[in-house]
Amino acid sequence: MIELETQLQNEQQVALENLQQLESPEALDAWKQTYLGKASLVMTTYGKMGTFSKEERPIIGRAVNAIKLALEAALSEKEVLVKRDALLKTMESERLDVTLPGFPVKRGRMHPVNLSLREIYRIFGDMGFQVYNSPEVETDDMNFTYLNIPPYHPARDMWDTFYTEKEGVVLRTHTSPGQIHAMREYFPNPVRVILPGACMRYEQQDQSHEIEFMQFELLVVDKGITFANLKGTMDDFTKRMFGAGAYTRLRPSHFPFTEPSAELDMSCIFCGGQGCGVCHGTGWIELGGCGMVHPYVLQNGGYDPEIYSGFAAGVGIDRTTLLRYQIDDIRYLRNNDIRFLEQF
Ligand code: PHE
Repeated sequence: MIELETQLQNEQQVALENLQQLESPEALDAWKQTYLGKASLVMTTYGKMGTFSKEERPIIGRAVNAIKLALEAALSEKEVLVKRDALLKTMESERLDVTLPGFPVKRGRMHPVNLSLREIYRIFGDMGFQVYNSPEVETDDMNFTYLNIPPYHPARDMWDTFYTEKEGVVLRTHTSPGQIHAMREYFPNPVRVILPGACMRYEQQDQSHEIEFMQFELLVVDKGITFANLKGTMDDFTKRMFGAGAYTRLRPSHFPFTEPSAELDMSCIFCGGQGCGVCHGTGWIELGGCGMVHPYVLQNGGYDPEIYSGFAAGVGIDRTTLLRYQIDDIRYLRNNDIRFLEQF
């Protein structure tokens, strides 16, 4: 028995000496396996306790308990040291240089069409207009019939419409159906709104045509509204948007929902009216359509044309944006190229 006791004491000494040499968590695991694992002298001695005599048992028991406690205490002490060393090492090798400049944060920008739109809101806001939003998907009636374009009338051919599979439902080809929505909501009060938003047409896409584009509609309904109000408002808008040097003209035209109707032209801001590539040598740039609201349309909005009159206009926001920023292709506006978008 004395022999086993000596053996245990030797084991303790050897184990503690070995422990001193170790530096990694893996080595500590292996050490624990060797000296405190199932096959270790300490644990097998516990297993054999029953084979010792009554006198031997307490002596061996005390000895084995003491060595087990000593080894466990030494191990946890060493674990703390090894962990701290590992931490110090990574802090040394993965040192953070807090004086390095950070990564620049990318700043978002407004899309040029939205920049134009904000400017349009500001200008008409100053003139006392409100913004009125109306649906992009419309009924056939709203987009055409109530605007004095009955079914099968050839005037429908003026708009290349996306008809949906649901009978009587179309993607709006212009913001004009918003006139009906606004009038029906405001009746019997005076109306002074702009209606902005996307319109869709089944068109061949090119430099100046897109199947989706932005328009804003202008609508004024009140007692005593005249063509002079239309002309004054459109001229004022054009000068505020493109500069005091821009002057306008109204050219006779036709829209089923206005009478009389006109095209609004602006003097070419690129050549000052001399004639250049942008204005195709004419000195004029077309901004949109306009006219006095047709009596039939007033009626569909709830207003008595004997008492009320009004004017309306529809202006392309994409084209306005192209002119404002001198962009030569409408397709840039929607192809999401960051090199383009970053310029605004
Ligand atoms: N809705 C017409 C178009 O898109 C423009 C317009 C609006 C004309 C209002 C007159 C009055 O072609």
